[in-house]
Amino acid sequence: MGGALLAGWLEQGISPADAVVVDPHYDSTAGPSGILSVSSPEALPVGFTPDIVLLAVKPQTMDQAAPLYRRFVKQAVFLSIAAGRTLASLEAVLGADAAIVRAMPNIPAAVRRGVTGLLANRNVSEQQRRTCDQLVAAVGKAVWVEQEKQLDAVTALSGSGPAYLFLLVEALAAAGENLGLPADLSAILARETVIGAGALLHQSPLPAATLRANVTSPNGTTYAALQVLMKEPGGLAALMRDATEAAARRAEELAG
Ligand SMILES: NC(=O)c1ccc[n+]([C@@H]2O[C@H](COP(=O)([O-])OP(=O)(O)OC[C@H]3O[C@@H](n4cnc5c(N)ncnc54)[C@H](OP(=O)(O)O)[C@@H]3O)[C@@H](O)[C@H]2O)c1
Repeated sequence: MGGALLAGWLEQGISPADAVVVDPHYDSTAGPSGILSVSSPEALPVGFTPDIVLLAVKPQTMDQAAPLYRRFVKQAVFLSIAAGRTLASLEAVLGADAAIVRAMPNIPAAVRRGVTGLLANRNVSEQQRRTCDQLVAAVGKAVWVEQEKQLDAVTALSGSGPAYLFLLVEALAAAGENLGLPADLSAILARETVIGAGALLHQSPLPAATLRANVTSPNGTTYAALQVLMKEPGGLAALMRDATEAAARRAEELAG
């Protein structure tokens, strides 16, 4: 995810000279060119003073990785994208005086179509808030929330959400095969349908429900399928509610 954000920022015109990657196993031949990469924070250039420290490690790695950046607390804002790591748990490793923004991006940030929920602690200045907002807006939409619990919901909805859509493509392709289509043809149809519907949703000012209603003739083929998908209980809405509740619960568990 850190790599996806970096790719988006570079594509937006941020200079490679303004970013440094710290990663124990970074493959500089596979990453973007012109980026300085080091294997540990000790190897950062002398006098290096970042404005932003992006913490993009796994939530369970945070306790071991983040304290090594405490020396930047005075000047930098810490932007954490770790699922479930609360502001309090990040303050516990970085110090109560650290300026911390908890962010929940999603993977389409790599193609600048991400959506990111953000939450700031009390130490974050207006300027730092604006900087984080601009950085996140460079790879999609930025949405600020006021409560920690809302960020668990953002995690369950948009953070994990792209995987739900990828699964939809897989399920749609399998359903096409079940109807007798060859696997490769079914995969193309499923993939292009989701891409096309997404593009239409992107261009249209209409809500999703109106776009759906517009393509559903009474008693037609789409109507027949929607009768199954929209049945209550057991339809897609209930399934999505259960799935996002499971994701939000997991985010809470990760918070410890
Ligand atoms: N994937 C998503 O769609 C998504 C969405 C929203 C938020 N997130 C959050 O993004 C974070 C990263 O997730 P991911 O899926 O991108 O995981 P990932 O692919 O495993 O990326 C984590 C990276 O951190 C590196 N790393 C490990 N220890 C480190 C250390 N001490 N210092 C610096 N770098 C270190 C890893 O290197 P090695 O591989 O060499 O160990 C790896 O490159 C997680 O906290 C996750 O909750 C992910």
